[in-house]
Amino acid sequence: MRGLAGRRVLISGGSSGIGLAAAERFLAEESRVFIAGLDAGEVDGAVAGLRHRGEIAGLAGDVSTEADVTRIVAAAQEALGGLDILINNAGTSRRSAFLDITPGEWDRIIAVNLRGMFLVAQAVSRLLQQQGTGGAIVNMCSTNGIAGEEDYAHYNASKGGVLLLTKTMAVELGCYGIRVNALCPGYIRTPLNAAIAAGIGGDDFEEAYARDRIPLRRVGQAAEVAAAYAFLASDDASFIHGAALVIDGGQLAVM
Ligand SMILES: NC(=O)c1ccc[n+]([C@@H]2O[C@H](COP(=O)([O-])OP(=O)(O)OC[C@H]3O[C@@H](n4cnc5c(N)ncnc54)[C@H](O)[C@@H]3O)[C@@H](O)[C@H]2O)c1
Repeated sequence: MRGLAGRRVLISGGSSGIGLAAAERFLAEESRVFIAGLDAGEVDGAVAGLRHRGEIAGLAGDVSTEADVTRIVAAAQEALGGLDILINNAGTSRRSAFLDITPGEWDRIIAVNLRGMFLVAQAVSRLLQQQGTGGAIVNMCSTNGIAGEEDYAHYNASKGGVLLLTKTMAVELGCYGIRVNALCPGYIRTPLNAAIAAGIGGDDFEEAYARDRIPLRRVGQAAEVAAAYAFLASDDASFIHGAALVIDGGQLAVM
């Protein structure tokens, strides 16, 4: 893809699932990559596993904590000598009926998925503005930020917030040459979804979900979302700004 070779890319949540696939994809595009994730062992394992593919480093931290975000962005800046692209991907989910969600569960999902997204986006945007180089930011939203899936009220609310955060960032940051877009994947097979599915039927749940809800009759793969990340961050998307790209096998097209 045009304009990714040599670009300096920070991927939050880059140690697992979609973020890990994104790290692989940006390395294949010859980008220089820094990943962050919640678990230090997982981050170190991902870096060790991908080192032979190109330049990659990483650091653990919690995106909902301001001090950790400051540390991560500073470490990425130091390792890569600045930044060009943010893949703002870290997030978490829990399945819980609206009537059962506790205030603690609500607060944690919003803290990671919305506050964390904001903290990382703001820290990187400030850096890009100071650099004066422009850049590209892709925020991880979801089809759940567009329509209200049952048993995910807290998650849906967090992702709905990311959608409007993205549009507002696009309005305010376009003048600095910083492009901002969102990705809205549907059901993607990752460790996060495997853990949720394990509690409600595993492969059988996934198969029934794909059959009943997804016109392409299958769930998505992390590499398919990573490809969309790469496209939106590349110069091939140079006039795409403030958009939310749905990548869901047709799920939201169903009436
Ligand atoms: N899997 C899907 O079907 C799907 C669909 C739409 C959107 N998403 C979004 O994609 C993103 C990645 O999800 P995934 O399915 O690859 O999950 P995953 O659990 O495989 O990976 C999540 C990543 O985020 C990191 N993370 C989680 N909480 C964190 C925190 N507090 N601080 C820092 N890092 C943290 C983890 O360390 C990990 O690297 C999430 O934002 C998720 O909401 C996933």
